[in-house]
Amino acid sequence: MLLQNILISRLLLGGSAFTARNGGRQSSRLIHHQNKMAMNAASSDEDSGNYKLAQDPSELFDIYPAPPTKAHFNAIIGPDWGDDFFPAPQPTGKVKKRSQVHKDGDWHRSMHLWIYQSDLANDNVRVLLQRRSPYKDTHPNMLDVSCAGHVNAGDDILETTMREMEEELGGNGNIKGRYSLEDVNNSRMFTVTSAIEGETEKHGKYICREYQDVFILKWKADAPMESHDFAPMAKEEVSGFDIIDGQELILKLRKGDEELVPRSGQYIDALAKVFGC
Ligand SMILES: *[C@@H]1O[C@H](CO)[C@@H](O)[C@H](O)[C@H]1NC(C)=O
Repeated sequence: MLLQNILISRLLLGGSAFTARNGGRQSSRLIHHQNKMAMNAASSDEDSGNYKLAQDPSELFDIYPAPPTKAHFNAIIGPDWGDDFFPAPQPTGKVKKRSQVHKDGDWHRSMHLWIYQSDLANDNVRVLLQRRSPYKDTHPNMLDVSCAGHVNAGDDILETTMREMEEELGGNGNIKGRYSLEDVNNSRMFTVTSAIEGETEKHGKYICREYQDVFILKWKADAPMESHDFAPMAKEEVSGFDIIDGQELILKLRKGDEELVPRSGQYIDALAKVFGC
């Protein structure tokens, strides 16, 4: 059922001209098809307004030092990384625009929030995924973590997470007041590094290198979590939601499923551990 939904959305929305080197695999035929679709999608003035709504290229990000070695580029930060990185990486003091950061491959900071609900009957969890809009500069149209966002220069990671959660998930009023800052703080699990290169028709080549603070938050509700519980404030950022069972999600991430934004082995292992699957 889920797979059918995925295939339909891919056809309706076109796809990314995405070429990840981080475990993502797509056949060249598919990339060719998606390039054509993306070109068609990027042709009108209305679309160019949508791209501006999907991200602001002039946003400013703090720049962080690169991890100690390349072996640390897709890994979880631990105490052995030293005081500059653990428990939290320290910024260099340099600030740059989003558009430049993704061209130059500077290390910056983002937050990832996974929302899940226990599925006790099946000894599993159900996990909320968002579908990225066709207008995003990285990974357009792909399924991803429930909610994610860059941390703007000088901003606090917890405040950013509260704000992104409302912006990306709470357009129907369902998030406001549901979680406290302390809830979010308690759901903070680990920080991973992620170095990904790709290309989109609209934005060209990008290099995205991030320290990602990962939050894993239990959905506060008695009723089963449904994708219509969530709505973005701006459809230009998020085009929809899916709910997937945890074991299936982990399996798909490990196989480098072409529909999911790829994650490193260490990230997937840590996620599986928290979900207990
Ligand atoms: C978040 O939690 C940590 C402990 O894990 C604590 O040291 C810190 O003060 C908390 N921050 C806030 C804003 O509550």
